[in-house]
Amino acid sequence: MEKLKHIIRTQDFDHEFLESLFKRTSEIKNELVSGKYPYSFSDSLNGRILASLFYEESTRTRFSFESAMLRLGGEVVGTEAAKLFSSATKGESLEDTIRIVDNYAHVIVLRHKQDDAAEIAAKYSEVPVINAGSGKGHHPTQTLLDLYTINEELGGIDGKKIAMIGDLANGRTVRSLAYILTKFKDVEIIFIAPENLKMKDDIKKHLREHKIKFSEKSSLEEVLPYIDIAYITRIQKERMSWWNYRKSRGKYKIGEKELNLMKKDARLMHPLPHVEEICLSPEIEQTDIRVAYFRQADNGLYVRMALLEYLLK
Ligand code: CP
Repeated sequence: MEKLKHIIRTQDFDHEFLESLFKRTSEIKNELVSGKYPYSFSDSLNGRILASLFYEESTRTRFSFESAMLRLGGEVVGTEAAKLFSSATKGESLEDTIRIVDNYAHVIVLRHKQDDAAEIAAKYSEVPVINAGSGKGHHPTQTLLDLYTINEELGGIDGKKIAMIGDLANGRTVRSLAYILTKFKDVEIIFIAPENLKMKDDIKKHLREHKIKFSEKSSLEEVLPYIDIAYITRIQKERMSWWNYRKSRGKYKIGEKELNLMKKDARLMHPLPHVEEICLSPEIEQTDIRVAYFRQADNGLYVRMALLEYLLK
C-alpha cells in the first residue's frame, strides 16, 4: 500500500499499515506509561502545526489529538466550536475554509456533521486531512484505537465474535469498525439494535461481499454469553427526531446482570460518551477487567500520536 496522505475511512487501511502503526503506538505508550522523562519523541514534530477544526462537539477526539500534537513537540491552532467561531457563520463553504487553513497548518483534523466532509476536505487540502468523525459516515481514528485495544487486551482480532449494540443506524464508530473487520479472518458480527435503528444495508452488503458472518438478534441475554466483545453505542439523539429517540431509548442497557452474563475474558467496549445504555457503578467500572472503555479511550492518545508521526515525519 502507498503511504496514506489523508486518513478518511477505514477501508483504506491494510494490515501492514495497522501493524506498523500499532507497533509505534506501543513504543509510545510504554515510554509514556513508564514516566521516564524526557521522552524520545518529545521533539519529533517540532515546528509542525495541527489545525483542529471541530464543527461538532467532542471531548476525547479533540483533546487527544491536541494533546498528542503537543506531546510530540508540535503546536495546535483551532477552535473547539468551528460552527460558531469560524467564518462558517458568515456562510463560508467547507471547501474555502480548507483552502485557507491548509496554508496555516501542516495537518488538519476535521470533525463535521456532513457524511462526506472529510472526502471534500481531502480534495481541496494541500496538507493531510484526518477525519475526526464525519456525520453518520466514518470515524476512522476511533476504529484505530478500538482495534489497538482489542489487540492489546485479547491478543488479536482474527476469530473474534463481536456484538455491536445500540444505535447502529447513526453510529459512525460501528460503521467504521464493521468496514475494517472484513480484513480479518473468521470474524463474526452480531448486530443488536432497536427496530428503528438497525445497521444500514450498505454495511450488510459489504459484509456479504467479503464473506463475513453476521446476524441480527434482538435479545442481549441470548448473545452476551458467547461473544468476545460487546461494543455498545449511545442512541444519537441529536441525529434523529424526538419520536424516534423515544421509541429507542432504554431498549438495550448493560448493567451488572448483563455484564455477568459475559465470559470472564470478554470485553465491554464503548466509544464514549456513555449515557443511560450503561448502568454500572463507578466501582464496577474500575474493578471489573471486562469494562474496557476507559482504557480504550486512553489508547486514543497513543494511537493518535503514532498517527501524527506517520503523517508528518
Ligand atoms: N469517541 C468519540 O468520538 O468521543 P468524542 O465525541 O468525545 O470525541
